[in-house]
Amino acid sequence: MKGLILSGGAGTRLRPITHTAAKQLVPVANKPVLFYALDAMRAAGIVEVGIVVGDTRAEIEAAVGDGSRFGLVVTYLPQEAPLGLAHAVLISEAYLGDDPFVMYLGDNLLKEGITPFVEAFDADRPDALILLQKVADPKSYGIAELDGDGRVARLVEKPAEPRSDLALVGVYLFTPAVFESVKAIVPSARGELEITDAIQHMVDRGLNVEPHVVTGWWKDTGKLEDMLEANRLVLSTLEGDVRGELLETTLEGAVAVGPGSRLERCTVRGPAVIGAGCRLSDSFVGPYTSISDGVVVDHAELEHSIVLENSRISSLGARMTDSLIGRECVIARSQARPVAYRFLVGDRSRIGIL
Ligand code: G1P
Repeated sequence: MKGLILSGGAGTRLRPITHTAAKQLVPVANKPVLFYALDAMRAAGIVEVGIVVGDTRAEIEAAVGDGSRFGLVVTYLPQEAPLGLAHAVLISEAYLGDDPFVMYLGDNLLKEGITPFVEAFDADRPDALILLQKVADPKSYGIAELDGDGRVARLVEKPAEPRSDLALVGVYLFTPAVFESVKAIVPSARGELEITDAIQHMVDRGLNVEPHVVTGWWKDTGKLEDMLEANRLVLSTLEGDVRGELLETTLEGAVAVGPGSRLERCTVRGPAVIGAGCRLSDSFVGPYTSISDGVVVDHAELEHSIVLENSRISSLGARMTDSLIGRECVIARSQARPVAYRFLVGDRSRIGIL
């Protein structure tokens, strides 16, 4: 069995972070979302993985390389434009050949990984296996309706009037029978070849599409709120591991501190992860916070936030919460006159002030 990870897409719902970085490389608990997918592939015994890439190809390739670090053999499959998930399958046909494959959307995160589903697929040998989970906002997902016997009856992509709250999780297992269907469908109203339509086409052809309800948590990290929630869910299983230096600092609960980091006169209430080479002083870091490498925090309080590499947070007048801070950002109190807020803010940023 091969793996197919989709890592194109513009990441519009995570702007401005995705103006400069691929959404699949934004870290959750200091590990890029995409790396969870790669680890899940390996854990399920899959070695050959194709990664479908778009405009952010160089960045994805720089981060993943040939895959050997993950125990994988990675092949990059360029998609000329984000023309849909089924289009990604279409352009991957030569790579996938006659093998069954797991298709995994690179911004999805599943607690239980994919091993149980790969095993179920191997045991039952359906033509396709789809994963489903109940969601509160079915208009935002591909939605499945099951019949009285629990079989897949109908699939609709982001329905205006959902008839079920069972969303399609971004992991799909296919036999090569899917290729006939991705070739048969036409672009949707949003101009994309939808995988949802291709699976419906398989159902209509009388093929066996087996539904599995995912019981562990699942997150599509496409939006800030989901990113923070995924960070919360992953950190809640964190184990403490201190490699940096602590001076007059109190750690409560599970806290990980990377090598070369120094914390002085701080309180860190876990679960929280602090990367390598950070400098934290006279500060409080609260639960569900992920601080990437090279970050400086002084005279500040933050919690339930993600701070990316080499940013500085300094002398805030109030606690920072629910935030995603990009790379090399500076958020600091200034002594300059006039006393005023001073911003240099990218497109589609959001700032909440007191
Ligand atoms: C895509 C699929 C949708 C699925 C979702 C899962 O949506 O089109 O059917 O439910 O991923 O993450 P998108 O993230 O492209 O809006």
